[in-house]
Amino acid sequence: MEKFVIHGGKELSGKVSISGAKNSALALMPATLLNSASNQIFNVPEVNDIFTMKKLLEQLGVVSDFKENKILLDTSNVSSQVAPYELVKKMRASIYVLGPLLAKYGYAKVSMPGGCAWGPRPINLHLEAMKKLGAEIELEEGYIIARSKKLIGTKIHFDIPSVGATGNTLMAATLAKGITLITNAAIEPEITQLSEFLVSMGAKINGIGTNILEIEGVDTLNGATITNISDRIEAGTILCAAAITKSNIKIEYPFFEHIEAIITKLEDAGCKILIDNDLIDINAKNISLKSIDVTTAVYPGFPTDMQAQWIALMSLAEGSCTVTDTIYLDRFAHVPELIRLGADIEIKNNSAVVRGKNQLKGAKVMSTDLRASASLVLAGLAAQGTTEVLRIYHLDRGYQKIENKLRSLGADIERVKTDEF
Ligand code: EPZ
Repeated sequence: MEKFVIHGGKELSGKVSISGAKNSALALMPATLLNSASNQIFNVPEVNDIFTMKKLLEQLGVVSDFKENKILLDTSNVSSQVAPYELVKKMRASIYVLGPLLAKYGYAKVSMPGGCAWGPRPINLHLEAMKKLGAEIELEEGYIIARSKKLIGTKIHFDIPSVGATGNTLMAATLAKGITLITNAAIEPEITQLSEFLVSMGAKINGIGTNILEIEGVDTLNGATITNISDRIEAGTILCAAAITKSNIKIEYPFFEHIEAIITKLEDAGCKILIDNDLIDINAKNISLKSIDVTTAVYPGFPTDMQAQWIALMSLAEGSCTVTDTIYLDRFAHVPELIRLGADIEIKNNSAVVRGKNQLKGAKVMSTDLRASASLVLAGLAAQGTTEVLRIYHLDRGYQKIENKLRSLGADIERVKTDEF
C-alpha cells in the first residue's frame, strides 16, 4: 500500500499542465467496439481506471497498446461479449461496453456494477433505454444479459440527464435501424467529445452539444483517431490547491469554457483569475477566502466531482456556507476525515454546512473514494504540520501522479510505502 505524507503550509508557484480527461477517455475507449478496425486516442491519462478499461477491452479480444498517453485499440477480432464481475466491480464505467456490444454483436453479458463508497449507483436508465431500442434484458446471477437481433431507432427521454446512460444509448443508436431521438440528454463535455468521435467513425448525429440528440443509424462504422479533451476536474482540483494555499500559479488548460462554473465560484471566493489562451493564471496571494455557497448541478453547473474539493477549500474560508449535492445525495464520506483535520462541518441531508476556520491541523486521514481523496490532499497542503493520506489507490484511479504535479509547484508531498491499510 502507499500513502501521501504532506507537510502543509507551503506556498505554491509556477506552472503545471493538466492531463487528459479520465471520464472522456472511459467513453471513447469502449466506443471503438462499434467498429472492427484500428483506432487511436491521444491525450489519455495514465490512471488506474484507464488501465482497468484497457484490461476489460482486452478481455473482449481488443488488441491494445498504451504508452506516452496514446492508446491504440484494434477491434478487428473481438471474440467475447462478456464483461466479468472481477473487472466491472472495480469500475462502474465498465457499463459503457453494454451499448456498443449490443449494437455491434447483438449480445452483451455485463456484470451489474457494484455500489461505490457513497452508496448505490443505479443503471436503470441504461437498461430502460436498451429495452426501448428493442433489446431483451435479463438479470441472471448478478449479470445483465442483453440480446437483440437488430436495435430499432426510437424516441428516448431521460428523466435524469445521466452522463453514462446518454453515452451508452448514443453509442447503441449509431448502429440501430432508423432514427433515435434522445431528449434530456446529458451535455457534459465528455458526451460532446464522444459524439464527435462517433461522427469521425461515420456515425450520423445531429444536435451535438445540446440536450436533444438525433442519431440516424448506419450499417457499419470505421476506425478513427481523436485527441482527448483535458480533464476539467483535475483542472478544478489544481486551481483549488492554489486557492487553499493562497498561491499564484498557472495551469495549462485549453478548455476554459468547460470549467466556467468553477472559475466563477473561485472568483466569488476572492481569487483573481486571468485567462491567457491556453493558460489560466490564478492568484490567491494574501486574500482572505470568502465563504461561498455551492449547489452542484449537471453541466454547465458546478460539478458534483468538485463538491469534496470545494468543502475542503471552504473549511478555511471566512464565515460559513452551505454546499449541496443534488446529483449524489450522500457523497460526503470525506467530511468525517476533514473533521479529523479540524474542519467544522455539519451534514444535513444532502448539504454540508461548513463553518470556516483560520487553520487546520495535520493528522492521519483515510481516502474513501476518488474525489474524497483529492479533498484530503488539498486540506493537507494547507494544514499546519504533517498530514498522512492513506489508501491513495483511490486517488490513483483518476489523477495521473498528482503528487508530481503538486511537487513541481512547490508542495511538500511525498508518496511512501506503508503497511497501514
Ligand atoms: C459520470 O458518472 C462520471 N463518471 C462521474 O464521475 C460523475 O460524478 C457523474 O457522471 C455525474 O457527473 C464517468 O463519466 C466515468 P450519471 P455516471 O449517470 O455516468 C442517477 C468521478 O469522480 N442515475 O450522470 O455514472 C445517478 O444515481 C466520477 O470521476 C440513475 O438514477 O453518472 C446520479 O444520481 C464519479 N439511474 C445521477 O443519475 C441510472 O441509470 C447522475 O448519474 C444512471 C444514473
